[in-house]
Order: sequence, then structure tokens, then C-alpha cells
Amino acid sequence: MQRRIFLTLMAAAVAASATLATAPMAQAADQVKIGFLVKQPEEPWFQDEWKFAEAAAKEKGFTLVKIGAPSGEKVMSAIDNLAAQKAQGFIICTPDVKLGPGIVAKAKADNLKMMTVDDRLVDGAGKPIEAVPHMGISAYNIGKQVGDGIAAEIKKRGWDMKDVGAIDVTYEQLPTAHDRTSGATDALVAAGFPKANIVMAPQAKTDTENAFNAANIALTKNPQYKHWVAYGLNDEAVLGAVRAAEGRGFKADNMIGIGIGGSDSALNEFKKPQATGFYGTVIISPKRHGEETSDLMYTWITQGKEPPLLTLTTGMLATRDNVESVRQQMGLASK
Ligand code: GLA
Repeated sequence: MQRRIFLTLMAAAVAASATLATAPMAQAADQVKIGFLVKQPEEPWFQDEWKFAEAAAKEKGFTLVKIGAPSGEKVMSAIDNLAAQKAQGFIICTPDVKLGPGIVAKAKADNLKMMTVDDRLVDGAGKPIEAVPHMGISAYNIGKQVGDGIAAEIKKRGWDMKDVGAIDVTYEQLPTAHDRTSGATDALVAAGFPKANIVMAPQAKTDTENAFNAANIALTKNPQYKHWVAYGLNDEAVLGAVRAAEGRGFKADNMIGIGIGGSDSALNEFKKPQATGFYGTVIISPKRHGEETSDLMYTWITQGKEPPLLTLTTGMLATRDNVESVRQQMGLASK
């Protein structure tokens, strides 16, 4: 009798240790918790990223914790908070890329896996922190698409380039912003646009209001131009410039603004019955940046497979005439 009990216990113990040995290194799907921190939760681009991250969570069965983190302090407390909630990793678009070393140290101390999206962290010397997996846009090339689009439309309208001013809404402290606007500037100049007609309009923050203020100064200082064009790091930057130009009487006929994004800020503009100076946008993919990053993090947590260190996504130029077809081609459902 005793021997039988002993054997049964032994068998159970062997079975248990076999399970342990063959079990995947991490948790079942329903124990996986992933944070998604964004710098500007009110911006439609980030709302879309979250929406697609939710789709990944639903499909895979993990818990997504969405956190708006507009300051360094918020980022640090959010990371501690995720650790306290037993999350295993997070994806972040940081409010300031210079927080890089601090964020890396905090994630490490809290034993959380980390991947960045949109804005890549930099170290103390301003160099990208290459060890942290990142998904961003191919900023310079997308900027060139903006510049090419503006140049083509200037030519189509038959404007004399010497009469056209360009508002370059800049945000130089963010490398992806620098690369986007440099790409647009280079493409314009390559198309014959006079460099001297490009007016830098530095914005204090990356939202429409700050772009509006920056563009207003550029317009005030340059009353000599008959027409205007505008570009910046995202749709909000260009919308600010378009609204400022409208205030000076430069409407759709005399303004060509092309943004980057393709979320609601741009879509709402295209839905207006009358065309505005917001001529187009290079649509980028919140689906890839939200859903794919979440999937990559999930695979990292459950299978131990680290995401690629760098993924750069592409965009497609759309105007009010073809926006729906471009969205469809990019795998974004109609809105
Ligand atoms: C930056 C911008 C956002 C958006 C993303 C896309 O974070 O601030 O508006 O353009 O890049 O990667």
C-alpha cells in the first residue's frame, strides 16, 4: 500500500518536472501585460496607434495598458507602475528623446522589456541608442515625398517660384522631425525652388497651436510673397501653418500644405466641403506602429525572440481626391 502511494507520488513529481522543463519560458497569453506609452495622447496619430495596439491585444489575448506620458516624470512613474502591475514589457514614444539613458536604466531596473516607436532614444552624445528595438518612419524619404508633392503642385498651378514662400515648420530637437523637414527642403530645392524663399518657423511644441504661432511670425516677416507652401514634421504642424495663412487671406488657391500622418487631423480637413490650403498628406501606418510593435513585444515576452533592432516604415502621398484609395492600399480601413 505504502509503496503504491510512493510510486504515485513519484509519477506525479516526474510529470510536474517534465511540464516545467518543456513549458515555454514565459507566461500564458492571459498573463501577459504590455504597456504602451505615448507622448501626446490627444493627437489622433497616437489614438490610432493605441487602437491598433488594442487590436493586437484582443487577437493574442494579452492585456494592454495605455498610458499618456507627456513628461519625463510621467514616463518614470509609468514604468514603475507597470512593474508593480506585473507587466513584462512596454512600447514607448517618449516625450523627449534625450531621456534615453534614464528610460533604459529604469526599464532594466524594473526588469521590463522595452521597444521604442516613432521617436528613437538618443544617448548623452545625441547618438541613437541602437540596442533598443525601434520602429520609426523613414523620415528623410517621407520628407522628400512631401517636397516632391509640393513642387509638382506648384508646377501644375504654373506659379513662378520666385513669388512663392515656403514655411518650414521645424522642431530641430527631435531627430525624426529634423530628417523629415530636411528631406522636404532638399526635394524642393532640387526641383528648382529658391532656397532663399524657405522660411524656418521653429515651433515650441509639436502641436497645431505652436505651429500656428510659428507660421504667423514667418508670414508677418515676409509680406513679399504672392503664394505660400508649407511643410513640417506632421499634419498638425502643417495645419497650424494653413490656419495662419488663411488668417492672412491665403486660402486653397494660394497655399499648398502637405503634412505627414493621415490620421483624423488630415482626414477631417479633406472632409470639409471646400478644399483648404491643406492640400495633401503622406499617409504613414499607425497599424504597423501600433499593432506590429505590440505583436513583436508579445513574441519577445512569450517566445524570447527579440524584435528587429530597427524597422523603418514607408508612406504614400494622398490628397482629398484619392485619400480613401490610398488608405485602402495601405491596409487602413475606410473611416
Ligand atoms: C512623431 C510625431 C508624430 C508622428 C510620429 C510618426 O512622434 O510627433 O506626430 O508623426 O512621429 O512616427
